[in-house]
Amino acid sequence: MVELAPSYERFAYAYDRIMYNVDYHRWADYIQKIFRHHSESPTSILDVACGTGALTFILSELGYQMTGVDLAEGMLEIARQKSIDLGIVAAFKPGDMRNFDLGEQFDTVICTYDSINYMRDEDEFASACRQASIHLKPDGIFIFDVTTERNIARHFHGQTFAENHEDYAYIWQNIYSKRDQICRTTLTFFIQENNLFRRFEELHVQRIFDNGLIKKILQRCGYDVIGMYDMYTFNRPGRFSDRVNFVARKT
Ligand SMILES: C[S@@+](CC[C@H](N)C(=O)[O-])C[C@H]1O[C@@H](n2cnc3c(N)ncnc32)[C@H](O)[C@@H]1O
Repeated sequence: MVELAPSYERFAYAYDRIMYNVDYHRWADYIQKIFRHHSESPTSILDVACGTGALTFILSELGYQMTGVDLAEGMLEIARQKSIDLGIVAAFKPGDMRNFDLGEQFDTVICTYDSINYMRDEDEFASACRQASIHLKPDGIFIFDVTTERNIARHFHGQTFAENHEDYAYIWQNIYSKRDQICRTTLTFFIQENNLFRRFEELHVQRIFDNGLIKKILQRCGYDVIGMYDMYTFNRPGRFSDRVNFVARKT
């Protein structure tokens, strides 16, 4: 019998090890370049969908006051434990990017690594943009990236990834429907509990949004779109872009 777990609750166990090849330092560096490019010098940053805090901690070390929010308590537990282990100060709070309210405002809100692709339709995307805006000081900027259809079609659709470790194993299967612009990922985990392995399954659903539609949603939610870049650059995104970075100012 397979136990169905909410997204990222079991993934959290091995997330940092599975993502070992993600260069979060390069990501933090790019975010700082975006600040300089747009003459921003924020003090406080809210990291929406912060996960286990990989980027949150690097930005904290760089001197920003960091707060992370995530839907998955499993991811937040790891982030809080890392905060203790690493001795790096950052606040981690539970929240759904579609409707959370921390009751405070930040100079910048970020949402990285395709997290906003978890919004399933235009309304959800707009809710996430509005909640980000509620948490931004006047003129603050919202930086987020989206994965592109090219990335999903070339690197995920129809593909299965698997790893086998001493204490866990996983199978990661992806199917993209071009018609719905939806990528469905089934993650099957086998995680060691005492001398046995328990099997869990997570279903992840991510939606692809066209850049033009994202711009319209942002404008509708009261933002000026001040940047739309091919990942890690300041170039216009094109048909070869795998990830697109948006920078929007709260008006
Ligand atoms: C690909 S991970 C990225 C995590 C982190 N930003 C990083 O770069 O490692 C996506 C994250 O989005 C979170 N997430 C998905 N839907 C969410 C929602 N509605 N509200 C808040 N977080 C959400 C997941 O729990 C997960 O931690």
